[in-house]
Amino acid sequence: MAFVTRAQITAVLLLFLVLCDGCDGGRPFDEGDEGGSSRKSKKSNKTKDPSKNKDVDVDKVGDTSKNTKDVDADKAGDADKKTKDVDADKADDASNKNKDVGADEAGGASNKTKDVGADEAGDASNKTKDAGVGKVGSDVKSFNVLDYGAKADGKTDSSINFIRTFKAACNFRGDAMMVIPKGDFLIGPVLFSGPCFNPSPLIVQANGMVKAQSDMSYFTGGADATDWITFQALKNGLILTGDGSFHGQGALAWKYNDCAHKSKCERLPANMKFVRVNDTIIHGIKSVDAKGFHIFVTVSSNVKISNVNIEAPGNSPNTDGIHISKSNKIEITESVIATGDDCVSIIHGTSEISIKNLTCGPGHGFSIGSLGHYDDEADVSQISDLIMDNVANPIIIDQEYGNRAIAQSSRVSISDVLFENIRGTSVSKIAVQLLCSKVNPCSGVEIKNVNLEYSGLPNDHRPFSSNCTNAKVTYAGKQSPPPCS
Ligand SMILES: *[C@@H]1O[C@H](CO)[C@@H](O)[C@H](O)[C@H]1NC(C)=O
Ligand SMILES: *[C@@H]1O[C@H](CO)[C@@H](O)[C@H](O)[C@H]1NC(C)=O
Ligand SMILES: *[C@@H]1O[C@H](CO)[C@@H](O)[C@H](O)[C@H]1NC(C)=O
Ligand SMILES: *[C@@H]1O[C@H](CO)[C@@H](O)[C@H](O)[C@H]1NC(C)=O
Ligand SMILES: *[C@@H]1O[C@H](CO)[C@@H](O)[C@H](O)[C@H]1NC(C)=O
Ligand SMILES: *[C@@H]1O[C@H](CO)[C@@H](O)[C@H](O)[C@H]1NC(C)=O
Repeated sequence: MAFVTRAQITAVLLLFLVLCDGCDGGRPFDEGDEGGSSRKSKKSNKTKDPSKNKDVDVDKVGDTSKNTKDVDADKAGDADKKTKDVDADKADDASNKNKDVGADEAGGASNKTKDVGADEAGDASNKTKDAGVGKVGSDVKSFNVLDYGAKADGKTDSSINFIRTFKAACNFRGDAMMVIPKGDFLIGPVLFSGPCFNPSPLIVQANGMVKAQSDMSYFTGGADATDWITFQALKNGLILTGDGSFHGQGALAWKYNDCAHKSKCERLPANMKFVRVNDTIIHGIKSVDAKGFHIFVTVSSNVKISNVNIEAPGNSPNTDGIHISKSNKIEITESVIATGDDCVSIIHGTSEISIKNLTCGPGHGFSIGSLGHYDDEADVSQISDLIMDNVANPIIIDQEYGNRAIAQSSRVSISDVLFENIRGTSVSKIAVQLLCSKVNPCSGVEIKNVNLEYSGLPNDHRPFSSNCTNAKVTYAGKQSPPPCS
């Protein structure tokens, strides 16, 4: 996929979400970083959480404190920190590994190779080929969660078993696949952290239904949001594939979202977070009712997301489908995203995004935002072939969103964004909204062939329109709503 190559600009993208035309109600997070913004635990007392035995805690605690540092660190500090983090992860891994996995590993794994290996490895390697990341040989060894004690009964917490399975796969010095077979599994927050020793991308073949603990007491990450399933620091890549689903059980957590009332509110756990995972494929899986974002990609490069299905009620708060920050070369294709918030939200430090053939809605559309926290970052995005299905705010660029009180907002600019072939229905009268700053207008925004129809309340007599402030836009082809004059 060739990305449009144009002048690089200073762009810090902040994704904001907009809850309604012109209203200010919602971008909760002014950063979408590795650690995300803080979410203080609503219940700081840990319950007797079967998954929170020592291994889980060690990882989580280590992780969150690191994230906090990374987030706070400026760029200069970053490189250092990462080195340290990776080392620390390794150390944790190694020691846990010796403690926990030891015995099961050898037996379970080698049996699985025979049972599951053949066809799933084949399948995965085809996908790899198709998606063009790495290569996976046919001698992939499988590590099945059932062999590590996970219970497919939908009610026994299998967090530690998933973690052990992951570690066994990750530490295997050959190509490896973690298998989540058909069946219902229940897990709390888990961290799948590298670096791994596999020469090829680690495969996670998910065919079962994995459900999150619904009680928020499982997700108390101290100063940071604890996300549900976090993949982190996988240097040799990751392939998450299968027809399984990840059910975030968000219905009981959404009431803790106070972003409608607070400008700076706390983020609820993402279903899946990918941190420092270059060369990643996410294919075929389904994400349902996340507590917070569904898929959150940060500090990652070369991530291809295809044929995913994301689903949450239209009124679920801040359940963005795919949320991206500080990443580059992200490709999202052929997916269906029906959720309560932005279909795809892109915030600061993100470049080379290609989004093709998505169906969005209900929920919001695409948002690209900026905030003056990080300078000198470029954004080149190409967003095309989208179908909007009763979407609120199908296209938004908002440089100022959530940022109006910050004096530096004018430093930030957004440029080189192409929206092409976008059709369907909008429940907002202002379907295209480009709000850029006076001092640093948006430039290089191209809008080609937009064919949207209004599908909102019939008694709204305002015109179906575009609203541009300080944006230089080039239009081509059909334009409905009519372009900014
Ligand atoms: C365009 O959006 C800006 C910012 O929300 C608002 O102040 C302005 O009134 C809008 N213009 C129209 C024509 O709706
Ligand atoms: C935890 O619960 C106990 C008893 O309910 C309470 O005394 C204590 O203050 C709580 N700790 C925190 C950190 O909330
Ligand atoms: C693994 O294979 C060995 C011998 O082939 C067998 O005895 C053992 O029961 C198998 N374990 C599992 C979990 O299938
Ligand atoms: C994978 O590719 C092989 C050969 O290219 C083909 O025979 C096989 O059917 C493919 N498997 C799947 C699941 O597509
Ligand atoms: C991931 O890719 C980015 C951009 O290409 C690169 O700067 C970074 O070093 C890579 N990280 C790892 C761990 O390979
Ligand atoms: C777009 O995506 C849908 C759903 O994933 C798929 O069925 C369709 O074939 C895709 N269309 C194109 C032109 O790729």
